[in-house]
Amino acid sequence: MWNIHTYDELPSTQSHARAELEQGVAKHGDVIQALHQTTGRGRYENRRWHDRPGENLLMSIVLKEVTPGLIEKMQFLAGVSLLRALRLLIAKSDSKFKSDRVRLKWINDILIDERKISGVLSDALWTGSSLRGVVIGIGVNVNQSEFDNGLEDRATSLKAITGVDYSLEEVRSVILAAFGNALDEYRSLQSLMFDVAHELEWMRTLRGFDLLAPDGTAENGLTYLGITDDGLLWVRNDMGTIRAYDNATLRIL
Ligand code: ATP
Ligand code: BTN
Repeated sequence: MWNIHTYDELPSTQSHARAELEQGVAKHGDVIQALHQTTGRGRYENRRWHDRPGENLLMSIVLKEVTPGLIEKMQFLAGVSLLRALRLLIAKSDSKFKSDRVRLKWINDILIDERKISGVLSDALWTGSSLRGVVIGIGVNVNQSEFDNGLEDRATSLKAITGVDYSLEEVRSVILAAFGNALDEYRSLQSLMFDVAHELEWMRTLRGFDLLAPDGTAENGLTYLGITDDGLLWVRNDMGTIRAYDNATLRIL
């Protein structure tokens, strides 16, 4: 199912895959992987994904057909499959590892304990109302054991957790297998959100986090209340006001 294209260096696998989709040369199942990105992208223009050359998994997956109700929520499907894949990879080398230490953090981050190991991006490309494709970008810290750019105490990697040097090919193949299985498994947004809600339950223990919505709305002192069937985040502020947000960034770290 996957056609892997590996590059030593790209500005961003996400921008590369997206440009190929726009030019009409990308195929369903293409995977663009880079051993280093010079301008790795986060969800927002001014935030970068950093990596040390050759140490991490940096890839973008192109899908040209997607279950309609899931198109704008693919980051959740990728997030759930990444949780499964990372738990499996860690369990292989550390049988005592408690899998609930690997957590989904709204909206698209994977944490181990309090540190980020992986981030997901999902960009849908449309021509009018017709879908041209979705590009799912996945960054996983694999063998990098030291971080800079302000990530010293906020990032972790598979190697930092288990002490094992991983083959990037093995990590890629476990993640792509889990992602392929999730594409087969989740046929409705409701079934996906049911599992996402389960993975976000731990966020009920958080007190007083901050939120930034894409329209610039900022709120502080929030409590997590849950998510709706269609993937909105419910939060309550310390005045007791309850609101639902789509695509908001949470600051808990
Ligand atoms: P959201 O969860 O809403 O997407 P975010 O804080 O993850 O918010 P992004 O716009 O996606 O913000 O940007 C990626 C963020 O990931 C950066 O702000 C940076 O702090 C962090 N980051 C960058 N590189 C790494 C890495 N290799 N490991 C862990 N975290 C990283
Ligand atoms: C996030 O942390 O919120 C998202 C980070 C996504 C990073 C990956 S690395 C591969 C792909 N190419 C990019 O430029 N970004 C994504």
